[in-house]
Amino acid sequence: NLLVESGLLQYLYQFLPCSSSPSLPGPPSFFLIGNMMELTHDHLPIHLTDLAQRYGNIYRLKCGKTTMVVLNSSEFIREALVKKWSDFAGRPVSYTGDIVSGGGHTISLGDYNDEWRAHRRLVHSALQRCCQKSLGTNCTLVDYIVPYLKNIMVLMDYQGSAVDLSEDFTVAASNVITTLAFGKEYDKSSLELQQLHSCLNKIVALWGSSWISALDSFPLLRKLPNPVFARLLKEVAKRDEIIRKHLNNYKSQDKKHEDAITGSLLQGLDKHQNTEHGVLLTDIHVHMATVDLLIGGTETTAAWLNWTLAFLLHRPEVQTKVYEELCTVLEGRYPKYSDRHRLPVLCSLINEVLRLRPVAPLAVPHRAIRDSSIAGYSIPKNTVIIPNLFGAHHDPAVWTDPYSFKPERFLEGGGGSTRALIPFGGGARLCLGESVAKMELFLFTAYLLRDFQFISPPESEASLPDLRGVASVVLKVKSYTVIACPRPESNP
Ligand code: HEM
Repeated sequence: NLLVESGLLQYLYQFLPCSSSPSLPGPPSFFLIGNMMELTHDHLPIHLTDLAQRYGNIYRLKCGKTTMVVLNSSEFIREALVKKWSDFAGRPVSYTGDIVSGGGHTISLGDYNDEWRAHRRLVHSALQRCCQKSLGTNCTLVDYIVPYLKNIMVLMDYQGSAVDLSEDFTVAASNVITTLAFGKEYDKSSLELQQLHSCLNKIVALWGSSWISALDSFPLLRKLPNPVFARLLKEVAKRDEIIRKHLNNYKSQDKKHEDAITGSLLQGLDKHQNTEHGVLLTDIHVHMATVDLLIGGTETTAAWLNWTLAFLLHRPEVQTKVYEELCTVLEGRYPKYSDRHRLPVLCSLINEVLRLRPVAPLAVPHRAIRDSSIAGYSIPKNTVIIPNLFGAHHDPAVWTDPYSFKPERFLEGGGGSTRALIPFGGGARLCLGESVAKMELFLFTAYLLRDFQFISPPESEASLPDLRGVASVVLKVKSYTVIACPRPESNP
């Protein structure tokens, strides 16, 4: 009786082998900890991909009372995220996720409901407005981006010395987003920018740590002192203070940057009030959307640029081919986004880096909002779905020689198909910044490779970048140095 009343039996029951989807394969689940150890691997995407060799492209893991289903092929990922999007559009509601997302008010972590839909629609249309302008002739997204591409010309200042470019890439990517969001740009030495980045970076890193995720799976741990969690709370408070200051500054400007997303969002709020399903969007939604754009749009693009140079250093002949294509097709001018259809070699490079190193390798976990199925297995409501994009992009059934860097696979006759690529996820939760990201990846790469030749420092072969990467929420390359040699026709 005592056991039943205290809820202890119920608590222990959750750790018994998963009975809800008995036929799903998976590693043995241990009493109390389930498969927790599988999730503490230093490179989780590689580890989950290795497990797929043993258990197949769909398997389950248990963690505390949560059942997770890992999907490792683009076929299964599309089935869940695209074909059955309305079954799997939820996000796991978690204690720490709630703290990071201001009570579930970010788009990325908010659960699927009317409020979330209205919020995503508001931000999506503000972003689309910016992107559509880029297809027109007057004020374009590309116009926003180009000054920051020119900023990349700070590379000239390095005068042939070997440097780590990761910070320059972060500043460039961040400036695109802060200009889009607030109409505000920074230089590299800006204290405000440094504070913003350091704070957002720390939040992403701390939130990805097992000290924090353990709090979600094992509520009893929340009663114990946890310095990592205390640091997370401090950074979240700092982030909110910085964003609040930005939004207040924006609102108080006499001459507002007309095309900034913030303006569009605030206007959208006025129009929206009480109109959709009684959902009331407020300043907190604009605040958290800004967090989404800054976090979603900075580290991802910067990490991707860093990966691209790292791979090119391993195969310099690919860089030569892209450069020759740029020279032939553009005849000396700078590229426009509309040139992409005439630059297949450059596009094959972009696709291959997205394939080998999808910068959000495990996307963001989804949650089944009703009972459903994937690949014929029944998936009960509340199961957490992990789309292993890294695994799908290394699936030997789809990709020949999946671990090799071969952009030519995407050229005519190369056998690779962009249909099997899924770096931005899909369905209702498709990356909100996909169009902005694609434009940035194309323009940044085209500008960089038009104006510079990137070479390894001469010391030794050992200085070639390590391509394994460091996996957290974002998959990053380990820091490396490179020499940027200006091309004869570069025009800073
Ligand atoms: C979500 C990839 C750039 C904003 C995601 C997801 C992926 C992804 C895989 C999760 C999708 C899912 O849950 O199924 C990427 C990649 C990028 C990139 C590979 C660049 C190389 C950006 C940019 C922005 C952005 C530039 C903002 C301007 C977001 C947001 C979400 C998201 C807000 C959450 C969407 C939602 O939950 O509905 N991204 N992203 N991302 N991304 Fe991106």
